Amino acid sequence: MGVWGEVSSANLTPDPSGISYYDDEAMFISTMRTGHVGARKLSSIMPWQVFRNMTDEDLRSIFAFLKTLKPVSHNVDNTEAPTFCGRCKTRHGLGELNRPLNGDKDSGT
Ligand code: HEM
Repeated sequence: MGVWGEVSSANLTPDPSGISYYDDEAMFISTMRTGHVGARKLSSIMPWQVFRNMTDEDLRSIFAFLKTLKPVSHNVDNTEAPTFCGRCKTRHGLGELNRPLNGDKDSGT
């Protein structure tokens, strides 16, 4: 909220619901350097103006690290109108697709 508007951070884990370019290092590096995913401009809270100064090796290392993360199923899309997310209990685009996790009181999965 605030000056950034209603925006949620992306799911960077290697899950089908995460970023779609896990097989495209050049796309990741371009996103980190330009603040655009293809034609889509990212919210300016994502500090790409800082990240753009990292070396190719730094960015490749971050990309390699992200691939080691445990996949987390969590659809987030800031181009869609915010809806309640049963998983993180906040509102964000595609929130309605996410069901509560096992173990949650009202688990549906
Ligand atoms: C090394 C650290 C970081 C990496 C590798 C990273 C990477 C990314 C990437 C690749 C995206 C685009 C996801 C997509 O394709 O939709 C993204 C989006 C985003 N990032 Fe970061 N990020 C980092 C740090 C941060 C920080 C520090 C913040 C805020 C304080 C932030 C906030 C966001 C937000 C809000 C979005 C979604 C923007 C939108 O959809 O318009 N990120 N990040």
